Amino acid sequence: MHNLDQIVQAAVVAFAATDDADVLEQIKAGYLGRNGQITELLKGLAKLPPDERRTTGAAINHAKLSVEGALSARREAIRKMALDARLAEEALDVTLPGRGQRRAGLHPVTRTLERIESLFRSIGFAVADGPEIEADFQNFTALNTPEDHPARSMHDTFYLQDESGAVAKGVLLRTHTSPIQVRYMQAHVARHAALATMPEIRVIAPGRVYRVDSDATHSPMFHQVEGLWIGEDVSFADLKGVIADFLRRFFESDDLQVRFRPSFFPFTEPSAEIDMAFMSGTHKGRWLEIAGCGMVHPNVLRHVNIDPERYLGFAFGMGPDRLTMLRYGINDLRLFFDGDLRFLRQFV
Ligand code: PHE
Repeated sequence: MHNLDQIVQAAVVAFAATDDADVLEQIKAGYLGRNGQITELLKGLAKLPPDERRTTGAAINHAKLSVEGALSARREAIRKMALDARLAEEALDVTLPGRGQRRAGLHPVTRTLERIESLFRSIGFAVADGPEIEADFQNFTALNTPEDHPARSMHDTFYLQDESGAVAKGVLLRTHTSPIQVRYMQAHVARHAALATMPEIRVIAPGRVYRVDSDATHSPMFHQVEGLWIGEDVSFADLKGVIADFLRRFFESDDLQVRFRPSFFPFTEPSAEIDMAFMSGTHKGRWLEIAGCGMVHPNVLRHVNIDPERYLGFAFGMGPDRLTMLRYGINDLRLFFDGDLRFLRQFV
């Protein structure tokens, strides 16, 4: 019996000595396997006299149960240790704040465009869109700039190639957003053809435009917002009021002067450049050119089947990139299009 206790003790110690499930099973074989110590003892029972067999058999079985009990306890302990180790390794602290904490923001020029749109919407203007690859007719001809007109050279642009590599006829990257207004007038006229009096046209046309030009204040791609108001009784005075009011609201300042300087555009007559000056602050008293404008030329109206004897109106075109530079005090236009996050993050 003493021997049995020792075997059980030794088994318990051996089981405890390993953390490895496979090693544990090997140790187990030494006690309970086909030639294990306990198994050998059970085999030896047959040689004992019958009266001893019973008590010795019971004692061996008891020892066997003890070894089996110790074994399964150790198996369980090893399994739990392995699980704990894995949980520790794959630890996930669900109480940590998430990583995606950086806020996205709109590009400063997009902010300006949205601001301009909402200011013009508030005085009844629609916002129209159009293609950036534009037809020659809408970009030039309808705007009183026929082929060979010298004013086309003011708008040197990018032409497109057809499949053969030749310059594609009749299409180009638009040089201004005026063609949006041409399309808008064409659709407006068609839509209201049945009416005795055409409803007023009041629309702005924001978008990207392209010209061959590149330095600190010019980029080959830039933005424009053009506006158009056509009716039976629209005057240059209305134009001045709309522009001055817009600029004061855009810059949130009544401390701002606007002046109109005579100029030339083929699609307006008379034409003017619009300058503005802040009456205080860094740019105090300096005149800045911010838009072109004028009364829509009768030939433009004729091209879209509007009777110039009856309807007239004004148009203007301004550069939202430049307005953004003024509003935020930015001195290089190229910063807008470099995509440098250190710059862009400042507007989030
Ligand atoms: N389309 C003109 C340009 O890009 C701007 C403009 C629009 C001028 C409307 C006058 C009237 O230069």
